[in-house]
This record gives sequence, structure tokens and C-alpha cells, in this order.
Amino acid sequence: MPKPDYTSLDLPEPPGDRPYVLLNMVMSIDGKVVIEETEQGIGSAVDQRLMRELRVNADIILNGASTLRKSGSSPRLGGIQELEQIRAERGLTRFPVVATLSASGNLPLERIFFTAGDFQAVIYLSEVAPEVRRRAIEATGRSVVTVPRGGEVPSMLRHMRNELGAKVLLLEGGPTLNAQFFRENAVDEVFLTVGPVIVGGSDTITPVEGTPYLRATAPRLDLISAVPLEESGEVFLRYRVRH
Ligand SMILES: NC(=O)c1ccc[n+]([C@@H]2O[C@H](COP(=O)([O-])OP(=O)(O)OC[C@H]3O[C@@H](n4cnc5c(N)ncnc54)[C@H](OP(=O)(O)O)[C@@H]3O)[C@@H](O)[C@H]2O)c1
Repeated sequence: MPKPDYTSLDLPEPPGDRPYVLLNMVMSIDGKVVIEETEQGIGSAVDQRLMRELRVNADIILNGASTLRKSGSSPRLGGIQELEQIRAERGLTRFPVVATLSASGNLPLERIFFTAGDFQAVIYLSEVAPEVRRRAIEATGRSVVTVPRGGEVPSMLRHMRNELGAKVLLLEGGPTLNAQFFRENAVDEVFLTVGPVIVGGSDTITPVEGTPYLRATAPRLDLISAVPLEESGEVFLRYRVRH
């Protein structure tokens, strides 16, 4: 079977108060999303390609601050001209906007998230963030949007939809932020790559952290597609969340 094509997803109109949310993660066979502190080494080049194909559909991409600190965060398309071309033909900006959410304001200001000139970045900062850190982030020239304590995720989503006009958000982890999106009932589809590797360990994290659900309230999903790829040994899964 050939790899899936994620460049042209048929997505419904978003709700009025948030973008339509796609979650994309890569996971080992034993259900882990990090090896030696980052996701690198779990997915293949094909998985990387699909991650970029998903970005073609997105108006905005989001990572939690911990992922930004550990792995970096960028909306670029890996220099793949064909993907940039598709966005251009659809009248979209070259790259989606990239965003992060933080309460501490402890962010790696030397990363391209803050320094690159070829994409826009937005920092959603909780009102509890120390003022000195807020000022340091603002000094990078990036947009900082204050979100209220306890209501950070819904407030951020409303801003994305209503102020930035974002229709499609691609959530690229990590698991702490993913958990909050599920709690807010704000994940519409899950793209999950299963990579043929074992990570092991009892303290290695899985795609969704946070407090466990009860059987009766656990989010349930419907399978849209499952594509095995012999060359990389991966399986590419796409699910829709039942709301
Ligand atoms: N396999 C994969 O596909 C994949 C994808 C993404 C990431 N990862 C891995 O996942 C790891 C990081 O995941 P993680 O779960 O530890 O962290 P995370 O979800 O990336 O980020 C958590 C951080 O986001 C901020 N945050 C989350 N909710 C918030 C809220 N309601 N209000 C304000 N700030 C909020 C906080 O930042 P502050 O601490 O700044 O307050 C929090 O510490 C990394 O090792 C990364 O490599 C793997």
C-alpha cells in the first residue's frame, strides 16, 4: 500500500468558538512518545513527510511550552516545494502561524520560534507568568496574548478563531497539552503514527497525560483510515473523535 496523502483533507467547517482541531503524534509500539527526551527516532522520514503534509491544511500549529523547550517548534514544511506550492494555490500564507502556551514564561528565546523571519509566531501566556519573563518575550517582537488562569485553553482557542481567523488548528503535542484539549472536548481528529520501536520504562510519557478518565467518560474515536507501510514498518492511523 502507498503512504497516505494528507495534503488535501476534507474537513468540515469549524465551530464558532474555536478552530477545527487536528492532533498529530508519533508513538512507539509500546505506546510511548518520547525517547531520550524527544520524539526524534520514533518516526521515519515518511512520518516527517506526513507531519508536513498535515501542516499544509493548517492555519495555525500549536505546541506546549515544554515541547518548545525540548524539541523546538516550527511551522516550516521541510523545504518541500510541492507542499509550499499547494498552500500558495489555496491562497494561504507560505507557512501556518505557529503558537505556544506557557504559564511560566520560561521560553527558549534563542530558538527559531522567536528569531525566524519567514513565519509568524504567537505566545499565549497565562496571566500568572512573571512580568520580567513577559517583557523578555515581548522584546523578541513576537505577539504575546494574555490568557486567564484556569481558562487558558478555551480563551486561546477563541482568540485563534475570532482574532486570527484560524479555521484549522494542528496540535502537535505534547501530551500535557493534549490532555487539556481532550478535557475541553476540543480535539476533532487524531493522526497517530505507530513506529516499530520499543521505548519501555514506567515514567516515559504517552500521547495523552493528565488525570485518567473513567470508562464511562473516556473519549471514544471512530477510525477513518489505517495505512500500513512496509518500507518503514509504520502504521498511519486517522481517527475522528466522537463529540
Ligand atoms: N511523539 C510525539 O509526537 C511528540 C509530539 C510533541 C511532543 N513530544 C514530546 O513531549 C514532551 C513534552 O510533553 P509534555 O507533556 O511534557 O509538555 P507539553 O504538553 O509540550 O507542554 C506542557 C507545558 O505547556 C504549558 N501549558 C500547558 N497547559 C497550560 C495551561 N493550561 N496554561 C498555561 N500553560 C500551559 C506549560 O508551560 P510552562 O511550563 O512554560 O508553564 C506546561 O509545562 C517532549 O519531550 C517532546 O519531545 C512528542
